[in-house]
Amino acid sequence: MFRYFALLASLCIISCDGGATSYEAISEDGDLKRGAEARWYTHDQVTLGAKLFSENCAVCHGREAEGTVSDWKQRMDNGSFPPPPLNGTAHAWHHPTSMLLQVINEGGGAYGGMMPAFSGILENSETLAVIAYFQDFWTDEIYDRWELMGGTN
Ligand code: HEC
Repeated sequence: MFRYFALLASLCIISCDGGATSYEAISEDGDLKRGAEARWYTHDQVTLGAKLFSENCAVCHGREAEGTVSDWKQRMDNGSFPPPPLNGTAHAWHHPTSMLLQVINEGGGAYGGMMPAFSGILENSETLAVIAYFQDFWTDEIYDRWELMGGTN
């Protein structure tokens, strides 16, 4: 429990400081702006995330987060699920940032999954950069839906 609050607190330090852009998504006439300028992350985060993703995640989730199996919904022989795409075509967008961080930090072991834990391997800022990298493949429509599901919460 404490860890969870610590996670949220550290998330706030980063996103409350550097993430002001998400509030700029609403333009003066109230319409949502389209495109990357309306997203929480910066170009530099995507660049760093690309490097870290290729080193740590691409082997299972694909170079461009497109997945590595033909059907990620089909259980494997050992009963666990294969790594899903993270490029917006599966369901990563159902999870707000706090849950994405939790999955990446703690892995899937607690649920009988095969996703490895990355806490102690990636810094919090690096994990956020990796999230920025795969979110950059999301269409504006998927990104908007993610915001409705909790977004950067
Ligand atoms: C050894 C293979 C492997 C590696 C390496 C790996 N993952 Fe995963 N990942 C999985 C599997 C398998 C799942 C499905 C859940 C489970 O089995 O735990 C998963 C699930 C996820 C999910 C949840 C997706 C959803 O739709 O709910 C996210 C987010 C994720 N991984 C991100 C990452 C990131 C970011 C990295 C690199 C830092 C990474 N993974 C590295 C295998 C891997």
